[in-house]
Amino acid sequence: MTMHRLKVLILGGTSEASALARRLAGDVRFETVLSLAGVTKAPAAQPVPVRRGGFGGAGGLADHLRQAGFGALVDATHPFADRISANAAEAARIAGVPLLAVRRPAWQPQAGDRWCEVADMTAAAAALGIAPKRVLLTVGRQDLAAFLTAPQHRYVVRSVDPPAAELLPPDAEVITARGPFDEAGERALMTAHGIEVLVTKNSGGAATRAKLGAARALGIPVVIVARPPEPPVETVIGADEAYAWLERRHGESCGALRGV
Ligand SMILES: NC(=O)c1ccc[n+]([C@@H]2O[C@H](COP(=O)([O-])OP(=O)(O)OC[C@H]3O[C@@H](n4cnc5c(N)ncnc54)[C@H](OP(=O)(O)O)[C@@H]3O)[C@@H](O)[C@H]2O)c1
Repeated sequence: MTMHRLKVLILGGTSEASALARRLAGDVRFETVLSLAGVTKAPAAQPVPVRRGGFGGAGGLADHLRQAGFGALVDATHPFADRISANAAEAARIAGVPLLAVRRPAWQPQAGDRWCEVADMTAAAAALGIAPKRVLLTVGRQDLAAFLTAPQHRYVVRSVDPPAAELLPPDAEVITARGPFDEAGERALMTAHGIEVLVTKNSGGAATRAKLGAARALGIPVVIVARPPEPPVETVIGADEAYAWLERRHGESCGALRGV
């Protein structure tokens, strides 16, 4: 008797997506494909087949789900990747494929934090104020354009890949690095560069949280960009919960095949 396999498409680009891919890779009940946007130059190696690049909007993703026979879609993209998440919700509806979103909880302020929460990057740049400051920018290389409007500050820009030169404010030093980062290292970085304010998205998760502890310890204020709204879909917080959801989907699809 051949084992029924549930074909799963993971929309990735996060540690949660990679962790889920690792859980599914050795499980014969699942046939898994991981989808990456293709924006990172040297993405981490993956234990399942990987496809790269956009689908051409929600309609393209719905076609892809149907044509390749996917039985489940997991949106494990970054909390700030709001276009692909909206597309996933719409595509799953069109194609009639069950969808689960994986969203790590947002970071919460702790005693001693000096957070200024803002709605978007434009507001983050404005929140830095008029007086020149030494700023650590950790918002990702694709969200730097807003800081061109605040050229009076001196920036240290940290990103996985180097940003395009035209997106950098005039006084910017680039550091390329990939997390996870630890608090001692983050404190040393902030101290060495005389950082006066940190700018970050509220990404959540452990890999890049240490900068918040370092800022708290050094009394450095943090301009933190709130998450964009999420589509109303079933959501879990991590790879373990997503794996359990897929096991239930597999059980249901086996039941449907047996007619129970
Ligand atoms: N935004 C961040 O801060 C951030 C941080 C870390 C990692 N990432 C990861 O980087 C990727 C791009 O982020 P973004 O903010 O540019 O996304 P986005 O604005 O939501 O998506 C832009 C377009 O890129 C394509 N796309 C995005 N994620 C994809 C995926 N996993 N597989 C295939 N196509 C994908 C889609 O193109 P089509 O419409 O043509 O399908 C989407 O419409 C995401 O996969 C995300 O998980 C983002």
